[in-house]
Amino acid sequence: MKHLAVIPGDGIGKEVVDAGMEIIEAVSEISSFDYDAELFDIGSERYLRTGELLTDEDLDDLGKKDAIYFGAIGDPRVRPGILEKGILLRMRAHFDQYINMRPVTSWHPFVPLKKHFDFDICFLRENTEDFYMGAGGMLRNGKDAEVNIRRKLYDMRIDLRAESSSGDDFAFEIGLLSRKGVERFADHAFRTAAKRNDDTVTLVDKANVCSIYEIQREIFTDKAKEYGIDVEFMYVDAMAMAMIVRPHTFGTVAVPNLFGDILTDLGAQLQGGLGMGASGNINPDGVSMFEPIHGSAPDIAGQGKANPIAAILAVKMMMDHLGHEDVGTMIQNAVRTCLDNGKYTADLGGKLTTKEAAAEIKKAVLRQ
Ligand code: IPM
Ligand code: MG
Repeated sequence: MKHLAVIPGDGIGKEVVDAGMEIIEAVSEISSFDYDAELFDIGSERYLRTGELLTDEDLDDLGKKDAIYFGAIGDPRVRPGILEKGILLRMRAHFDQYINMRPVTSWHPFVPLKKHFDFDICFLRENTEDFYMGAGGMLRNGKDAEVNIRRKLYDMRIDLRAESSSGDDFAFEIGLLSRKGVERFADHAFRTAAKRNDDTVTLVDKANVCSIYEIQREIFTDKAKEYGIDVEFMYVDAMAMAMIVRPHTFGTVAVPNLFGDILTDLGAQLQGGLGMGASGNINPDGVSMFEPIHGSAPDIAGQGKANPIAAILAVKMMMDHLGHEDVGTMIQNAVRTCLDNGKYTADLGGKLTTKEAAAEIKKAVLRQ
């Protein structure tokens, strides 16, 4: 029996998580997957009502689950960054979900490229370090607001305060990679490549400009030898281009946090749009969290327009992760069937509402 935490969150998060729960219910009827689900009231509504983002109690309760199924957060009434940092990034950090796995699959005919390429890329975005450490801020008139920034600068023997006092303002963001952090990332990347039978791991960086990425190259080179799998290096700008002109040449792609954020939105579009992109925030030894890549889309919330596929493919990833890969495959096949039969939402050119599209996928699951 698996214990699931369910966090619909904001906007279309609620609609697509409802859709995903329908699928979870369906697969539990026809497979050995057995579960219970606890709903968590986390998101903008609660924040606006109580001022709470994530409490210690929430984290304790979530920590007892086998997996977290997450919708989306974001609300125009809340200043950008509050919910993202206070909820989503906090959970990723708290549960040390150091891999963000984002498959990019050629879901024809929705791939918006002129040439026909078949691809199946597994993006592994490092999910805890780099420029997502939260070590940034401003120095104005010699005053900085956050203690942790001062400490980071101190640790790095940088003292901008004196210069800021003499009339210059600074804004900064510090990115850090630790040996431990890169090693576990590399291990996961090479293990993933082995599992997928990829002979190469592509490592993305900007090592020609940012010295932060040298340690990554060093560690991935060593690990490549250890695992007997090649590593190839790609600069992020070249990678963005290559994803458009030769996506079929990539298998397992490892990418640091910030560049991974950007490239996986591009990846989602390559599959047919944000409505197709699923992701798993994975801690191989802890509690992992599965979510669609898209956000809360307040402009279409509550209208039944959201494409439920990304959230349903997140369920597929959750099933794979929980050791029910047969169920994961059934879900993937059901999505394929519905795409083949024109059963989808308007973003893909279809006529169905969120609920109708989910019901079709559920039917296709049950028919297997
Ligand atoms: C994502 C999102 C988040 C990120 C935001 C909402 C903080 O863009 O999951 O890709 O930057 O990681
Ligand atoms: Mg993003």
